Amino acid sequence: MKIAFVCLGNICRSPMAEFVMKDMTNKHIINSFATSAYHIGEDMHKDTKELLIKNNIKCDNFICRQISLEDVKYHDIIFALDDEILNTLQNRFQEHKNKIQSFCTYCNLGYKNVPDPWYSGNFEEVYMIIKHSCKNILKAIDEENINCN
Ligand code: 4NP
Repeated sequence: MKIAFVCLGNICRSPMAEFVMKDMTNKHIINSFATSAYHIGEDMHKDTKELLIKNNIKCDNFICRQISLEDVKYHDIIFALDDEILNTLQNRFQEHKNKIQSFCTYCNLGYKNVPDPWYSGNFEEVYMIIKHSCKNILKAIDEENINCN
């Protein structure tokens, strides 16, 4: 399956989700993107990188990208890391609404959104939510319990 994670900047949350998921499986194609153009071409946030390295998760050769229509068409399922991102994506790519889902549906910890560490500074909290959700997403895919068409 081709999976994309999307947040606002593609430097904190969605790259973390991309590399945490890549560390858990090599069965799928996994990418991440921004809705904004703020950081195109940059590496991920240094605190996201530090946290991934600290947890022995490989995160080389990352370059921030803004999501395009081609990217939406290419992926089977697109996870929005918060509700604002979900709305933006569903409005921007209306014809592909059915493959755009909320990441936190798979969280099970009571979070409706992945809080943005750009503002909160709490990268550990984000890592905990992401690890949990990615595990549940993989389980749902394995059990063919995930809707993407
Ligand atoms: P992210 O965090 O969406 O998790 O990558 C942000 C990164 C940058 C900005 C906002 C959020 N910014 O406003 O530049």
